Amino acid sequence: MLILGIDSSCDDTSASIVEDGTTILSNIVSNQAEIHKKYGGIVPELASRRHTEMIWPVVDEALTVAGVRLEGISAIAVCHGPGLIGSLLVGISFAKAMAYSSGIPIVAVNHLEAHIFSSFLEEPRPKFPFLALIVSGGHTSLYKVAAFGSYEELGRTRDDAVGEAYDKVAKLLGLGYPGGPIIDRLAEKGNAEAINFPRPYLHGSHDFSFSGLKTAVLLYLREHPDVPVEDVAAGFQTAVVDVLVKKTIEAAKANGLSRIVLSGGVSANRHLRHRIMGADRDIEVFLPSPFLCTDNAAMVASAGYYHFLDNHIASLKLNPEAYLPL
Ligand code: KG4
Ligand code: ZN
Repeated sequence: MLILGIDSSCDDTSASIVEDGTTILSNIVSNQAEIHKKYGGIVPELASRRHTEMIWPVVDEALTVAGVRLEGISAIAVCHGPGLIGSLLVGISFAKAMAYSSGIPIVAVNHLEAHIFSSFLEEPRPKFPFLALIVSGGHTSLYKVAAFGSYEELGRTRDDAVGEAYDKVAKLLGLGYPGGPIIDRLAEKGNAEAINFPRPYLHGSHDFSFSGLKTAVLLYLREHPDVPVEDVAAGFQTAVVDVLVKKTIEAAKANGLSRIVLSGGVSANRHLRHRIMGADRDIEVFLPSPFLCTDNAAMVASAGYYHFLDNHIASLKLNPEAYLPL
């Protein structure tokens, strides 16, 4: 069964064809980093305008690369939130127009659920139940996933998402956007022990907090304007990864879970991947390939496949939701 996935929730326009929820036939992502780079972050109005330009070519390419005609598609899975409202609107309007003209049903997919399902697109696939750590530009959350459709939030960030903290620290350091991959690269050349940034553990809770760490970097830079940028990157990244790894392992153990699934853009981070893999030998860790960690429509098509099997068909009145808890 072939599902066409569409994601336009933030600054990437993406379309994908996935077979039976697991096999990627195409996964096209049109990235907008060049457009937003000079602003040091995403400008929502520019993002939605670019989506309107790119949505049709991206869907067209996804069908062409997969060698599939529209008639061969069983359902269109579209991300309906959470995300930027104007950006989501483009993907949803396009999916609805396609569904209306072709008669193909639409399935609505939550962006966070899609991130969790990115790990179903590769072997070995995680078995239920597992703990999902979602670390992206907009979210930092821990979910207990008991089965498809059963998500219990165990913790979340109380302020900045971890990707947002990466991007803001990169901006303070005068680096480009998105800052995560740049800090990831620079940190490899720095001394992680040169600066001891605070580790916000929030003991007794599975919640996170990263805004204080970001402020600590700001204050440090004011007092040490000539510090090597690599050392700041390494010190900041090590503090972030220490907290993410410790709290994720703790949450898994506290909930009797022996499998951890990572997802979201920050799970492409090399230091995080390395550290969490060796963190606890009783826990199996599932890491999607980096291209599946950042936003893409294959993960939407994968989650959409399971919704379609459960007959969760959306109506043509489907609207985007900026805030949409799992
Ligand atoms: O999942 P994603 O593509 O979009 C959202 O749903 O937000 O995540 C984007 C975030 C950005 O903040 C970006 O800086 C971060 O993921 N990111 C990384 C890395 N690659 C992307 N952060 C740290 N290290 C990376 N290698
Ligand atoms: Zn995302």
